[in-house]
Amino acid sequence: MNIRQQLNDIFQTAMTAAGIPADCSPAVAPAKKAGFGDYQANGAMAAAKKVGTNPRELAAKIVDNLGDQPMIEKVEIAGPGFINIHLSEDWMGKTLAAARADDRLNIATIAEPQTVVLDYSAPNLAKEMHVGHLRSTIIGDALARLLEFQGHKVIRQNHMGDWGTQFGMLLAHLSDQIQKEDAEVALADLEKFYREAKIRFDEEEGFADRAREYVVKLQGGDPECLKLWQRFIDISISHSEEIYEKLNVTLKRSDVYGESRYNDDLPVLVQELLDRGIAVEDQGAIVVFLEEMADKEGNPSPMIIRKQGGGYLYATTDLAGIRYRANQLKADRIVIVVDARQSLHLKQAFTTARKAGFLPETVSLEHCAFGTMMGEDGKPFKTRTGGTVKLAALLDEAVERATALVAQKNPDLSQEERELIGRVVGIGAVKYADLSKTRTNDYVFNWDSMLAFEGNTAPYLQYAYTRVRSIFRRAGVNPSDLKGDIILGTDAERALAIKLNQFGEVLDQVAKDTFPHVLCTYLYELASAYMGFYEACPVLKEGVSEEEKLSRLQLCDLVARTLATGLDLLGIEVLEQM
Ligand code: ARG
Repeated sequence: MNIRQQLNDIFQTAMTAAGIPADCSPAVAPAKKAGFGDYQANGAMAAAKKVGTNPRELAAKIVDNLGDQPMIEKVEIAGPGFINIHLSEDWMGKTLAAARADDRLNIATIAEPQTVVLDYSAPNLAKEMHVGHLRSTIIGDALARLLEFQGHKVIRQNHMGDWGTQFGMLLAHLSDQIQKEDAEVALADLEKFYREAKIRFDEEEGFADRAREYVVKLQGGDPECLKLWQRFIDISISHSEEIYEKLNVTLKRSDVYGESRYNDDLPVLVQELLDRGIAVEDQGAIVVFLEEMADKEGNPSPMIIRKQGGGYLYATTDLAGIRYRANQLKADRIVIVVDARQSLHLKQAFTTARKAGFLPETVSLEHCAFGTMMGEDGKPFKTRTGGTVKLAALLDEAVERATALVAQKNPDLSQEERELIGRVVGIGAVKYADLSKTRTNDYVFNWDSMLAFEGNTAPYLQYAYTRVRSIFRRAGVNPSDLKGDIILGTDAERALAIKLNQFGEVLDQVAKDTFPHVLCTYLYELASAYMGFYEACPVLKEGVSEEEKLSRLQLCDLVARTLATGLDLLGIEVLEQM
């Protein structure tokens, strides 16, 4: 149910009937202020300009052509030619009843599902996951859930960094360590292991040469070496899996499609670009010079796809990835969730892929960019001593802080309850703090604001959910037993009904633009509309008629379910009691 789209269609038809050219849009949008209807059609002004008539007269003509519309109670023309739309309360009540009767809240699956490849998380397996991978993991996973809910076929691709010269040093060190201890033990702390290997590489006589030999052997497909590499990769992936588990992220081992998977294709791809004159040799390296992205002086933008020594780069792998996803995975849409600082790199890769015809023109190629996570000091988030923050440690701290907070708020909880709530709130807070910010901006990581029970936070929404649900416990009713009409007698009920009915259009918008904060803002506004309703409209108090009570309880049920569904799409859990 996408009301905005439905109204837009209705007004488009009316515009056509009024003789307005089809390329004029009715521009229907939710009304920004109270008193201007529920929605507005703002397209009359632009259309009037185009056909050269008076906008108010044209608006009147559109309105004359609306015909009988059960959704619409009345319309009025305001100002220079805005059309304010008031929805029918009867229609809204019926729509909400239908949503209540449906597991999916009447959100239909998409008519033309796409195959969407989502590239997200992508940690480097040589090291432990750190905060730099948090945003990609959280944002990507929310999008995966949402697109899947809409009925798209989502193929998750965890483009893990599992290849490169650093593995020479790591494997040389590992082959020594496993003479003394199990590989699992040796690799229990990846950071430590990496540091040790690096020290040996820098200081130990002969080690650097062995490391280089390992690189050659690895690239040459030496079976023993590959076995060792596989062992390393497997253990490192399990570390990432622990994080995914903690974070309630849906990525599975089967979603791992690391950089190494493109190895065989890289020389082929480079040769092909050379043969077709898209890439050229330049000082021993192979480079694509992009005229399409030339700077002000007209110098083309260079992208190296093979280094002087013959090594491949990130750019080469991303090109191979795009080609693979479009042609083998048959993607209609490829979304790469990567730091905004890599915008130039991805723009070059996208431009080259298009130029080379690596993907059908119809395939949409999108960089879902996000800003940097900052500390309180306004600099990229670091430990107190300036080191990179390990993700595992950060998440543990979130759970610890939330558990303490919950215990303080509610001292009667059992140990077990406290731990459960602490985990759900702590992890939810970290995820929501990230998702609720416009993703393209940098954002400041702040424990106190993300864990606040007031404002646009996970704890606030999670708590709002439990509060709504507690009404049913107090009333002693099961929501599925509720009957009767939904009546929207007051302004607060009406405002809440409109919010509830907007869930579908919000999901459509997030699916299209990939900005999860739009869903967060919606859920926050829904919770606020509920608070307004709760204050204005008693549900269980004496003096409320049975009819009113049943209607209001149905609204409560819809609020709870919409909050739970929305948060679930963001990868955030709710609890019956907090
Ligand atoms: N592995 C890289 C890192 O750890 C990020 C990869 C981003 N994904 C991509 N398709 N380029 O920083």
